[in-house]
Amino acid sequence: MLDQPKTFAPDPGLVETAHADKARYEEMYARSVTDPEGFWADEGKRLDWIEPYTKVKNTSFEPGNISIKWFEDGILNVAANCVDRHLATRADQTAIIWEPDEPDAEALHITYRELHEKVCRFANVLLSQGVMRGDRVVIYLPMIPEAAYAMLACARIGAIHSVVFAGFSPDALANRVNDCGAKLVITADTAPRGGKRTPLKSNTDAALLHCSDKVRCLVVKHTGDQTTWIADRDVDVKAMMEDVAPDCPPRPMGAEDPLFVLYTSGSTGKPKGVVHTSGGYLAYASMTHQYTFDYHDGDVFWCAADVGWVTGHSYIVYGPLANGATTVMFEGVPTYPDAGRFWQIIDKHKVTQFYTAPTALRALMGKGNDLVDAADLSTLKVLGTVGEPINPEAWTWYNEKVGHGRLPIVDTWWQTETGGHMITPLPGATPTKPGSATLPFFGVQPAVLEPESGKLIEETACEGVLVIADSWPGQMRTVWGDHERFEETYFSQYKTYYFAGDGCRRDADGYYWITGRVDDVINVSGHRMGTAEVESALVAHAKVAEAAVVGYPHDIKGQGIYAYVTLMNGEEPSDDLRKELEAWVRNEIGPIAKPDLLQWAPGLPKTRSGKIMRRILRKIAEDDYGSLGDTSTLAEPEVVDDLIANRMNRR
Ligand code: WTA
Repeated sequence: MLDQPKTFAPDPGLVETAHADKARYEEMYARSVTDPEGFWADEGKRLDWIEPYTKVKNTSFEPGNISIKWFEDGILNVAANCVDRHLATRADQTAIIWEPDEPDAEALHITYRELHEKVCRFANVLLSQGVMRGDRVVIYLPMIPEAAYAMLACARIGAIHSVVFAGFSPDALANRVNDCGAKLVITADTAPRGGKRTPLKSNTDAALLHCSDKVRCLVVKHTGDQTTWIADRDVDVKAMMEDVAPDCPPRPMGAEDPLFVLYTSGSTGKPKGVVHTSGGYLAYASMTHQYTFDYHDGDVFWCAADVGWVTGHSYIVYGPLANGATTVMFEGVPTYPDAGRFWQIIDKHKVTQFYTAPTALRALMGKGNDLVDAADLSTLKVLGTVGEPINPEAWTWYNEKVGHGRLPIVDTWWQTETGGHMITPLPGATPTKPGSATLPFFGVQPAVLEPESGKLIEETACEGVLVIADSWPGQMRTVWGDHERFEETYFSQYKTYYFAGDGCRRDADGYYWITGRVDDVINVSGHRMGTAEVESALVAHAKVAEAAVVGYPHDIKGQGIYAYVTLMNGEEPSDDLRKELEAWVRNEIGPIAKPDLLQWAPGLPKTRSGKIMRRILRKIAEDDYGSLGDTSTLAEPEVVDDLIANRMNRR
């Protein structure tokens, strides 16, 4: 900690052409926080409005009255902003480059003109199925262009989409369909990924057994794999798209009409439906995409996330398309057919901005340098990371092997809830320090509080919990169907602030270093997983009496999932049972929730009031049991000795 971390200044050549250099960033940032009304009144104009707004910001973080509205009297259509308005100037420019799972299969280059027709046809299919303004549509698709068509088709007719990551299980899908009351699910026959195929349609069939029988199912025949077909429920989307009209007028929508619901894990209970609305979200996605990645016309932008996560929403679909960009959509995984796939794609499509998660970099750096060295990466201008703190080793490798020491790395801190980047360097403006997300984006007012007292820390250099003092246009508006939970989750612990759930350190230069979640959420391979969710999946198994789940440091994933399991009386631990429980969790939630380590626990350390002491479980999982702290409040302190003694039996 005593060493001053190395600072990397922006390349002078880039500073010349960048949308913002240091002076411009400082000037714009100052205005964005002293005059948010004026600043966002101007930035809102980056969108096309059917009726311009006269009100800009109407937001309150006051207890009992959490209310967030931006551009509230403006009327627009999000799909028209992402597609139609580009037709006059760039109809023949590629909007989406689609790279299939199999490298030998043909990549698609979809122009804005083609995108327009596909979105219109898709929208007409939705209309023909009775989907109306405000209806919810669940999208459970592979990373194929139809995922973008479906999202934009919903936006075009004013329906609210909820994309469910294709790695989620039937149960997880059913829960989401039911929670948002979806009228329709859009899926595909199967999803190829890394040479394997996920049976999405049969997962959907299984899910829909637990949903209203009114829910219809649109199926994209993508691989042509055989599936079951329920005649009066299932619709062949591609066939139907041929039959409907190629045009569909965009529906005028209020700026505050919901655009989508995206489910994310929290520290308690079931995943919550994060609601984003139309005007503020799109303006923010567009602005962050332009400035954070220093996007210019002619660039080829690649965000290697999945549209099932917010990163894919904001930086594969909405941000880039609002900016008339060329956006790359990749169906596969970084390690198929070999660990050079990312670099081969950058080479093949002449990618200029590349955005991925540290976990992917850690996995790839372990495979050596031959594959990255073999690719021509000379088109790259900006590199980005998201999802978790980046460790210095991964940062250095990214900088040297991918960036050849000459490219800015933007480490972007944000969340599903924030809609877009919150703390991030700008390529031409911000000197970077490996591992720091650096400084706030325009309009974002971070603050650091003392965790216990909630007192605002005034000193620049400090450590505490990260909160945001005022609203920004991309902020989530509510939890679907549960505004109280919205207030309770984000605004009750530290009143008048938005509490992100992360801890942070601020250094003497005012740079932010995110230290990770301070709640019971763990970050596995850049994906959020609520420990409570995994626990409730485990205890739903007939042989499990109790379970406690914590995170532990994992070389590649950042954090791994560590489960302590107490069996019902009379049940014996065995390797078979361990496998059964792992498969069970995969089925209940999805492969991303499978415990990395499972330890049989005859008992769990609890306070006398019955609360599980996770702090102790975390220490044992980290092998740091020499410093367990005070265990005298435990109901049965000997439980801890057993867990320590038997910890090597975990696997
Ligand atoms: C973590 C992903 C450190 C953080 C966009 C946050 C990060 C959670 C970073 C949100 C980063 C995201 N540095 N930590 N650059 N970016 N996180 O909702 O804990 O899937 O709260 O959104 O990821 O995850 P989510």
